[in-house]
Amino acid sequence: MTKHGEKYNWQIGNAPPKLDHHSLVKHQIVQEYLGRYIKVLMSNYNIERLVLSIVDGFAGGGEYVAPDGQGYSPGSPQIVVDTVTEQEALLNIGRAKPRKVDAKYYFVERHRATHAYLNALLTTKYGDVRLGKDIISVQGAFDAHVHKINQDIIKRQGGGRAIFLLDQYSYDKVPVPLIKKIFTEVDKPEVILTFGVDSLISFLADNSQSRKKMEELGLDAQIDWATLESLRGAPPAVWRSAIQRNLAKGLIESSGATHSTIFYITPMGNSSWTYWLVHLSKNYKARDVMMELHWEMANHFSHYLEPDLFTLGYRAGSDGAVTQQNDIELGESHHFDAIAADKCKRGLGEKLVPLLFGRSDPIEFRQLTESIGSLTPATAGMIKESLDEAIRCRELLVMSPDGKTRTKGNSIKPGDQLQVKQKSLISFN
Ligand SMILES: C[S@@+](CC[C@H](N)C(=O)[O-])C[C@H]1O[C@@H](n2cnc3c(N)ncnc32)[C@H](O)[C@@H]1O
Repeated sequence: MTKHGEKYNWQIGNAPPKLDHHSLVKHQIVQEYLGRYIKVLMSNYNIERLVLSIVDGFAGGGEYVAPDGQGYSPGSPQIVVDTVTEQEALLNIGRAKPRKVDAKYYFVERHRATHAYLNALLTTKYGDVRLGKDIISVQGAFDAHVHKINQDIIKRQGGGRAIFLLDQYSYDKVPVPLIKKIFTEVDKPEVILTFGVDSLISFLADNSQSRKKMEELGLDAQIDWATLESLRGAPPAVWRSAIQRNLAKGLIESSGATHSTIFYITPMGNSSWTYWLVHLSKNYKARDVMMELHWEMANHFSHYLEPDLFTLGYRAGSDGAVTQQNDIELGESHHFDAIAADKCKRGLGEKLVPLLFGRSDPIEFRQLTESIGSLTPATAGMIKESLDEAIRCRELLVMSPDGKTRTKGNSIKPGDQLQVKQKSLISFN
């Protein structure tokens, strides 16, 4: 699938491509996420140094003609370097002893002319002293270089924290085993991946070509081919629901990540073409920060699952088949707006307390968020709010580690113990 990728060609001497809306949203996410990532990890003032590696595996030429045609907009390589520089400056405001974000950047670009454009830009912007030192620029396919890059990251003292931006603009350049390799080799990796799921939907059919492709991507086990065929001709929302339910599970579970967000980006609000922005990590806090960003950028994201707690994978009946009716019911799209937030919190309020009911031991709030973590569009803050009513009517008891009883959802802390008040076994009719 190179249809969309081909338009991204840079050539020294020619104007770069124009930045489109889909890239704008993605750039905002990358910039905001990276800024928050550094703030969270440096929130303790005693930490003086953060060693971080940023791998941009599909780097492009580094700049675009701005959307309004006036001047230039930065591409992802400039965005990451400038964001780190800016955050480091913010960390040092009013400090006598400097704090350092010791970042190393790896930019990989397959297309020769685009790579030459990127190198020229990086040299002009940051000076050639940085190239080959903290800025590594590689020409070639990402999968051919990932192992060497991982080894370099591992060798960095205090390293292991790495963010991989894999902006493939398709669905087939980053097979799941490649993500698994990153999660196996690097200690604390995070992946921000674009996945052209709508292009995949138009390609998927129960034929040998499709099956082979899905096998190469490491996603074949997750496809319910029979249902897929029965959904042919169904509205896009039904497809998106079925695909998100099945493929998202495959991608998450086979990637080696423990936490994830996989939601549709709808760049133009109601665009006919959408893709997934996927974030994979081994850390709940990282997932929560990304989830908060989705709610803040509400009108650009959507999903087709339950509004509160997801059931991923086949929605199998006793015969093991997903019925078309089920998926049609689930073809509803949810955005990240006030209506969705309300539905989500109300739904969680109704579902979480019964889930805890019957447990003889209390559960730490941290453990609860860890266990439902990626199966909800809720942030940790929203989960706390959803428990508010149960706390106020004393159906749910929440105790701090030093024995204080919490009286409202918002006051819950990660180490608090949650226990549902057991109902009396004697009932009078
Ligand atoms: C969508 S553009 C990247 C845009 C860039 N991430 C940004 O946001 O500014 C995708 C780029 O990946 C390059 N590319 C395609 N396949 C690749 C591969 N297997 N490895 C590395 N680069 C690849 C294309 O030449 C293109 O420049």
